Amino acid sequence: MRSSHHTGPILGWYTDNARDLPWRRAEATPWGVLVSEIMLQQTPVSRVLPVWTEWLERWPTPAGLAAEPSGEAVRAWGRLGYPRRALRLHASAVAIVSEHEGRVPDSYDALRALPGIGSYTAAAVASFAYGQRHAVLDTNVRRVLARLISGEEYPPKTQTVAEVRLAQSLLPLDPPVAARWSVAVMELGALVCTARTPRCGACPVSAGCAWRLAGRPAYDGPPRRG
Ligand code: ADE
Repeated sequence: MRSSHHTGPILGWYTDNARDLPWRRAEATPWGVLVSEIMLQQTPVSRVLPVWTEWLERWPTPAGLAAEPSGEAVRAWGRLGYPRRALRLHASAVAIVSEHEGRVPDSYDALRALPGIGSYTAAAVASFAYGQRHAVLDTNVRRVLARLISGEEYPPKTQTVAEVRLAQSLLPLDPPVAARWSVAVMELGALVCTARTPRCGACPVSAGCAWRLAGRPAYDGPPRRG
């Protein structure tokens, strides 16, 4: 399913509909991408935007942050919530300086080895900052694939090996296209294929969506958030 019939329509939809977010612009640095991914994990885009902008103005490089006490990172985190993320980001900056000469590493394994960087963040940074080919599975992507391919309203509660294999099988072969595909699917989940009120009328792949073709059956498992 390398180049599935969903690829073109979703990439085209993204070109026309993607939000202009600063960490997606060509001038965004790998550090900016890493900071965005940590901030966006539990906080909506609208609240992340001002904090991300101030953060990057104050600490445009990992070295800048690493030179400060970790309490400064927590303070600058403001009201984003889950402030442990600020400590993890600070610890990552310190490791980037001491182990990678101040440059955010470009390999998935080196990223994954940074403090507090899990498989999602490592794949997201390798893809979005360095244009590599990795399956990037966040809640939005998991929900889109659950509906589009598996015909289920929601993905399993915790990520399964089958989901990772499915996402890998759908990745376009060309690495930069694969990276763009991942962010396009993420955006489709954020803007159209939303958890509770999907707008199938605005979806570029609704005609081939397994969940829609099945009549959008309601999820019938334990209550869940998204
Ligand atoms: N663009 C790249 N990564 C993103 C994310 N995690 N959330 C929203 N937009 C993004």
